Amino acid sequence: MDQLYHPPAMVAEVLEYLQVRRGGVYLDSTVGMGGHAEAILEASAPDGVLLGVDMDASALQAAGKRLERFGPRVRLVHGRFSQLETLVAQLGVGQVDGVLADLGPSRPQLLSPARGFSFDSEARLDARYDRQQELTAWHVVNRFSRADLVRVLSLTGKPHAARRIANAIVARRATGAIDTPRELAQLIRNTLGRAKTGGSADVATEWFMAIRMFVNRELEEATEGIEAAAKILSPRGRLVVLSWDGTTHATVRRKMRELEKGCSCPPELPCVCGRTPVLKLLTPRGRQATAEERRINPATRTCRLFAAEKVPPP
Ligand SMILES: C[S@@+](CC[C@H](N)C(=O)[O-])C[C@H]1O[C@@H](n2cnc3c(N)ncnc32)[C@H](O)[C@@H]1O
Repeated sequence: MDQLYHPPAMVAEVLEYLQVRRGGVYLDSTVGMGGHAEAILEASAPDGVLLGVDMDASALQAAGKRLERFGPRVRLVHGRFSQLETLVAQLGVGQVDGVLADLGPSRPQLLSPARGFSFDSEARLDARYDRQQELTAWHVVNRFSRADLVRVLSLTGKPHAARRIANAIVARRATGAIDTPRELAQLIRNTLGRAKTGGSADVATEWFMAIRMFVNRELEEATEGIEAAAKILSPRGRLVVLSWDGTTHATVRRKMRELEKGCSCPPELPCVCGRTPVLKLLTPRGRQATAEERRINPATRTCRLFAAEKVPPP
């Protein structure tokens, strides 16, 4: 598969849950290489509109090329999922009929050695989606205190191993900076005393993922983005989120449930918060890709689709 190709996941399910129709206005908040956006534009022809957002300027460029044939039906803007309210206001759009967020990195980001995501890369540690952002993986690994490193690495849910790796990083820094993903991966393998997990993945994988999630504020983005999406959806508009790892699945589910519940007061007391349900969750457990898609594209084995509908105001 071409390094620059990112196969969009669960396309049929995304279109089904978004209820894409002609003339609708849709917002793809992680437009990436434009695969889902293209499918939405085709399904909403001849006059549906697609607003595409991404933190990565080079992804927007690639999406722009791919979607050129749709002309004025497409508008692309640099920004974040968490900033949807401001972004739609900038674009002069009121409410939208559907919001999609396909969280995490794209294949080209992961595989391009220059982006410093993959652990065989000899480029400088980086892992930013937005290359205008100051914080990089290099800074986390080389400048964070031992305690802060433990906090970041504990995003794996393995605090004991996180402490061992943080200690090894701090000890190694005494002899010079850890500059490349390859050096960091080797240090992690040496510290854990093995190169592969039981499932034969590289043991460095989950630790790189924790650093990437921290650098890009991925869990905060998921929470704030869902909150923002719920505000810009028209009544009965749909929100679809694709997430790719257990920690993000739990974060997305928790936020959607919170917005479904509305009131956050103790159940035995009268409500003083005044919050009412904003979303209705359509996929309580999250949906998986079909067995056929998982076979063709093994990356989708971990993918879950969460969908919700905007509850009309009382
Ligand atoms: C999995 S890819 C999306 C692929 C896309 N659905 C497609 O069909 O090509 C994720 C994209 O979202 C971007 N991204 C990740 N988190 C983001 C966020 N919080 N806000 C905006 N863009 C984000 C990444 O830069 C990447 O380009």
